Amino acid sequence: MTGSQQASNAEASPVALVTGAAGGIGRRVVDRLAAQGMTVVAVDRSADASKELRSVPGRVTIVQGDVAVAADVERIVADTERDIGPIDYLVNAVGILRVGDVVDLPDADWEEMFAVNTGGVFRMIRAVVSRMVVRQRGAIVTVSSNAARTPRASMSAYSASKAAATMLAKCAALEVAKYGIRCNIVSPGSTRTEMLRVSWENQDRADATIAGVPDKFRLGIPLGRIAEPDDIVDAVEFLLSDRARHITMQELTVDGGATLGI
Ligand SMILES: NC(=O)c1ccc[n+]([C@@H]2O[C@H](COP(=O)([O-])OP(=O)(O)OC[C@H]3O[C@@H](n4cnc5c(N)ncnc54)[C@H](O)[C@@H]3O)[C@@H](O)[C@H]2O)c1
Repeated sequence: MTGSQQASNAEASPVALVTGAAGGIGRRVVDRLAAQGMTVVAVDRSADASKELRSVPGRVTIVQGDVAVAADVERIVADTERDIGPIDYLVNAVGILRVGDVVDLPDADWEEMFAVNTGGVFRMIRAVVSRMVVRQRGAIVTVSSNAARTPRASMSAYSASKAAATMLAKCAALEVAKYGIRCNIVSPGSTRTEMLRVSWENQDRADATIAGVPDKFRLGIPLGRIAEPDDIVDAVEFLLSDRARHITMQELTVDGGATLGI
């Protein structure tokens, strides 16, 4: 595998593929699944991914690739199955955010958000599920957003791309249920990562986010805090685990009540 750090002694350990693995949430997913003893294939397009992930203890293989590129996705999944083992778990933690009102939004931003947030999830689910159905086992979690259900000013393309990803994941769940494969969604609200920092334009807007921003019709966060990545990863781990063996097609929102449970 190009640019990867090969895992060893992977025979007995389940294999998990994580996208957006160098990001704030993805990195903690990698940490936590590796700590469970899984062999983790950590996929990110960032050239810094190796730097971010090299220190994670456990069996971690770092792979540079772009989920918006069909050939990258097929290569990563095929190489993983050939060199490491059958993929038991997939976590789509990839995502990009470009803000801008509809009237100002460039075509390129619209297309890139759909290529990554929706297309990247579609391509990964397609490639992984086509192998899982043969083995009749597997679990998938897609990290979407509470913005998929709640209109947000200046976030139309992001919200629309996440709404599409959520529904794609639910439809895939329906198709693969007969094989015993589960497919669920975790939808975070504001979570302390690079994505949030950029959306706050590099300022600390935690207090305003928690209190709410009336002129943007944005409610606050009833539980009174910004999520940490681990809050999201707890939900991801649960939905991957056998404790959730009878749960599929579900969206678990982790936003401190910011979208009022709707
Ligand atoms: N942080 C939040 O407040 C928040 C809120 C709701 C939903 N989310 C969702 O949570 C998920 C994780 O977000 P995060 O906060 O960790 O963001 P992040 O920006 O910290 O990490 C995203 C990672 O995805 C990688 N990436 C981007 N495009 C890629 C591509 N085409 N191929 C492969 N890798 C790519 C980036 O390099 C980065 O490492 C995303 O789906 C995001 O939309 C985040």
